[in-house]
Amino acid sequence: MPLWSLLSTQVWGPGSVLLILVFLLRLSVRLWHKTQLWDLQHCPTDLTGKTAVVTGANSGIGKVVSQELARRGARVVLACRSRERGQRALAEIQAATKDASLLLGEVDLSSMASIRSFARWLLQECPEIHLLVNNAAVCGIPRTLTPEGLDLTFATNYVGPFLLTNLLQGIGKVVSQELARRGARVVLACRSRERGQRALAEIQAATKDASLLLGEVDLSSMASIRSFARWLLQECPEIHLLVNNAAVCGIPRTLTPEGLDLTFATNYVGPFLLTNLLQGALQRAGSARVINVSSSWQTQGYFDEEHLTGAGGPLTFNQNYYCSKLLLTSITGEFARRLQGTGVTVNSVDPGLVYTEIMRTLPLYYRFSFWISSFFIKDPTQGANPVLYLSLAKELDGISGKYFSRSCVIIPPAKAAQDPQVAQRLWNVSVKLTNLDKVD
Ligand SMILES: NC(=O)c1ccc[n+]([C@@H]2O[C@H](COP(=O)([O-])OP(=O)(O)OC[C@H]3O[C@@H](n4cnc5c(N)ncnc54)[C@H](OP(=O)(O)O)[C@@H]3O)[C@@H](O)[C@H]2O)c1
Repeated sequence: MPLWSLLSTQVWGPGSVLLILVFLLRLSVRLWHKTQLWDLQHCPTDLTGKTAVVTGANSGIGKVVSQELARRGARVVLACRSRERGQRALAEIQAATKDASLLLGEVDLSSMASIRSFARWLLQECPEIHLLVNNAAVCGIPRTLTPEGLDLTFATNYVGPFLLTNLLQGIGKVVSQELARRGARVVLACRSRERGQRALAEIQAATKDASLLLGEVDLSSMASIRSFARWLLQECPEIHLLVNNAAVCGIPRTLTPEGLDLTFATNYVGPFLLTNLLQGALQRAGSARVINVSSSWQTQGYFDEEHLTGAGGPLTFNQNYYCSKLLLTSITGEFARRLQGTGVTVNSVDPGLVYTEIMRTLPLYYRFSFWISSFFIKDPTQGANPVLYLSLAKELDGISGKYFSRSCVIIPPAKAAQDPQVAQRLWNVSVKLTNLDKVD
């Protein structure tokens, strides 16, 4: 009997026919999904000795992923909000994989305090992390504010994973780690001792380098920079590489106790003063490089020295960041001219658009769009690549006063940053502001 006559007999009825059709549809969708799947079974990757962290690991995709990673020998940290559900998942995965190294960590991704305390614990338990799966998320929750004033859904699905990823990463940390791995004695210059110590422990564990040093400096405070430079020059009379990497972004006009605008102080005046104070040590090294981490956004800035003290022309949102990077790019040329023939080269570089913690101070809609595009923009390891190129590449010996694009190519910076007269004027203003003309 043909299929259609079979389906249309009264024995089956329209309900059964519908059921069969749904069944067939489901079967074909499943088969189609199967053809789209990556062939997991034939992937030989062994994860013995590796550590993986999976958020939202107590159910759904997170649980399956955790189990597969554990089966392949990884030490998996199940990062769960509820201890009780986490313990149930842990017991299940342990039973299925016979893996006794599984760890359970409690973290509520909608609470930044909880994430920070989880990250502290995690970095002590696992100084090296090979895989972080930001899996946890919520859906369908009406607008609700967390006690920290964030929307619960955005906090859990975006801000939390963003903070967690970045507590474990950053361009500066990647650069420091790579330099230490190549035998340099690296000084981590950090504003927060606690965060600095964590980065130090991680880099030490990853590189087995015992010579790393941690120095405390707040680059928005000229007093702090002077005291850091005094300490540093005693510890390291010769310096071969200075990476002016620290910066802030998205902070509205705010004056520091020393009367400088916080963004300009951190991103421009601080690096200007530090480079000057370390000039002797850089020259003593015989051959040294200074790298100013700039940004392609410098092309959107404009010159107004009064911005340095929180005055001057109007700044729309984020323009203080663009303008501060323009000043840093401009002063790079002036440093290069002044240091010509001393063996010290000074260049600036755009790392490209990188998904890092610098975005944490941006408004929510900006952070959200960065999160959406985070799959397409660079991660910190990729962002560190141009900075490492300027630090390490042999062919750059003797090249100074240049601006490098994110693809490590020399390109002209903004027009204003190419003008030596503008840079000279900026130099004079900066010397006055930092009291460099007075004996230290
Ligand atoms: N991410 C991007 O898309 C992008 C694009 C172009 C250029 N850049 C540049 O790349 C560089 C690195 O940024 P990132 O993306 O890696 O961001 P990040 O992870 O936030 O790193 C910025 C670093 O600067 C430090 N810092 C901020 N204010 C400081 C102060 N007053 N004193 C001392 N240290 C201070 C931060 O320390 P805390 O931990 O204490 O905050 C942090 O270690 C910056 O110069 C940035 O402008 C980034």
